Parts: sequence; C-alpha cells; structure tokens
Amino acid sequence: MTRALLALGKRVRIIDTGRTSLSENPPPGVTLFPVDIRETDKVAELAAGADLAFHIAANANGTLSVTEPRLDFEINALGTFSFAEAMLAAGVRRVVYVSSASTYGTPRRFPMDEEHPNRPFVPYGASKLGGEVSCLALHHARGLPVVVGRPFCVYGPGENPREAMVEVGRFLRWHLNGAPIQIVGDIDRKTRDFVYVTDLVAGLLTLADRGRLGEVYNIGSGTETSMRRLVDVIGAATGREPAVEVIPEIEDDTYRLVADITKIRTLGYRPEVSLHDGVQAVAQALGPAPEPPGAPTIFALGQHAER
Ligand SMILES: NC(=O)c1ccc[n+]([C@@H]2O[C@H](COP(=O)([O-])OP(=O)(O)OC[C@H]3O[C@@H](n4cnc5c(N)ncnc54)[C@H](O)[C@@H]3O)[C@@H](O)[C@H]2O)c1
Repeated sequence: MTRALLALGKRVRIIDTGRTSLSENPPPGVTLFPVDIRETDKVAELAAGADLAFHIAANANGTLSVTEPRLDFEINALGTFSFAEAMLAAGVRRVVYVSSASTYGTPRRFPMDEEHPNRPFVPYGASKLGGEVSCLALHHARGLPVVVGRPFCVYGPGENPREAMVEVGRFLRWHLNGAPIQIVGDIDRKTRDFVYVTDLVAGLLTLADRGRLGEVYNIGSGTETSMRRLVDVIGAATGREPAVEVIPEIEDDTYRLVADITKIRTLGYRPEVSLHDGVQAVAQALGPAPEPPGAPTIFALGQHAER
C-alpha cells in the first residue's frame, strides 16, 4: 500500500504499534508513528490536513481472536470507532476502512455479494463488523466520508509466518521445506477466494478514488479455488509434486467461499494476478527453506485446538 501511494506521489504517515517491513529504513516520503489507533487525540493530530486515510490496523490473527476476544474487540471494534472519531476531528477528506469477508460468517450462497447476511462466527469477524457499523453510523450521523472494503483471502510476499492464516503462504512454507501440506477438512469441497496483495491494493485505491461514500465493497479475485486446485497450482509453480496430509475429521471451516466482485467491478476494478503467478512470486520471495507456518493448523469451533 505504502509503495503504491509513494508511486502516486503521496507523502505517507504510518500509524502502527508494531514493527512493519518499513520500520528499519523508511523510504523518503514515509514517516512512522508508533501510536495506538485507540489514542484518538494523537491520531487526530497526526491526521490533520490529510487527504486520505486507510484504516488497516487490526488484530488480524483469528487464533488470538478466539483466545483473547476482548483484545480483539478493543482493537478492531472500539479501536476502529476511535480511529473514525479521530478522522472526523481531523477533517480527513476520505477514509477507506479495511474490513473483512469474515464479517459474513458461513456462506449461504456462491458467490457472495455485499447483500449476503452478516453472521460472523468468530470474534474476529464480529469485531471487524463492529468496526464497519461504527464507521457507517458515523457516516450517516456525522458525515464521516468513509468507504468500506471487505477483502477475501489475501496473500503475497512479506507475511508474518507466525500469524498468517491464509492457505497459500502456509501451504508453500510446508512444501518448500519438503514437508507435507496439511489440509484441514475436505480437499475438494473447501474453497476460498485468494486475492494477491497488489490486487488488494488496487481495489483499495479504487475505493479511495471513486468508491461511493457509506458503501461496502467486496475485494477478491472472484475466482473459487479448492484446496486441491491450490495444491496443484503450487506443484506447477514450483515444479515439484507436493506431498499432502489431509486432516478430514475437523470440518468446521469446510465451506465454499467466493466473492461476487460485480459491485467493485462497476468502478473499474479488475484483479490482474493469476493464482499461478501469485504463487510463483511468493515462492520466489520465500526462497528454498522459509520459516514454517507458526499459527495452529486446526480451527475447531468451541474447542480451539493446536497441533
Ligand atoms: N490477511 C488477510 O487475508 C485479510 C483478509 C481480510 C481482511 N484483512 C484485514 O487487513 C488488515 C491487515 O491485515 P494483515 O493480515 O496485514 O495483518 P497484520 O497483522 O500483518 O497487520 C496489522 C497491523 O496492525 C497493527 N496494529 C495492531 N493493533 C494496533 C493498534 N491498536 N494500533 C496501531 N496499530 C496496530 C499491527 O502492528 C500490524 O502491523 C486488517 O485490518 C485485517 O483485518 C486481512
């Protein structure tokens, strides 16, 4: 996101309590502030005079959201409300809130458009939805100039292996180390909508440029990919047959998931990176022996288990 904004000639201020890939050596035009989004006054001060704000900060770790739901709600729901208040105080001209497809819960139709019911089943999805409704209420009641994006399953280079949950990076990390790829649930029935990080950035820039204020937009590839297809693509992209270990007994997250991206397409958004090219780019960035995935493989509702 930062690189794309710099390429557009913007100056960028990053508010992040953690370390980012730019922490060590921020490029010219980028300033980092180790400020918590819940510190409304400080955030408002830093945002004063800004044309545009992307609200990306979150606890994005689904595991932590199950073990520490209060932290999750404090950062994602209340933190987003505080951030939105700060944007109003600072008079920022446009805000893009990065929500999540997890706000939908278990899909009831395929593909899923923005009118699909919101019934999140993990605290993470509920807290992201809390952030959305705060932003939209402040839009209607106080004129917050906000657009909401709901990304699906984002992947790309630079993920933190200890936290990232999306299958592409996790599967590649096992495969590149010569270990079997662990698949939870049904290898054919379980599907996801994988969207490459530069396509996500393009989607967010589209919303910043011409998304309708007070509206919600899916951001995905619009392509449904089964776990089997992902394994096949990994084999083709790396030139090596993957070994697979299927864990069929836990089916909690065996459902189809694919975005209907008609709405954002009407703004001119077009995802450009194929799964094959994206997987190849991540494999190259990871090198031959990346750190294996650290987050638990198994997500079982009501009895979160590590393995
Ligand atoms: N990764 C995905 O597939 C995906 C899908 C849908 C939505 N999203 C959303 O995209 C955003 C980024 O996700 P990610 O996967 O890159 O996560 P990430 O953990 O890599 O990035 C989140 C950043 O927020 C910062 N942060 C956390 N709490 C903060 C606070 N209180 N104040 C300031 N900074 C804080 C962290 O230090 C971190 O750098 C999140 O809002 C997430 O909900 C991600």
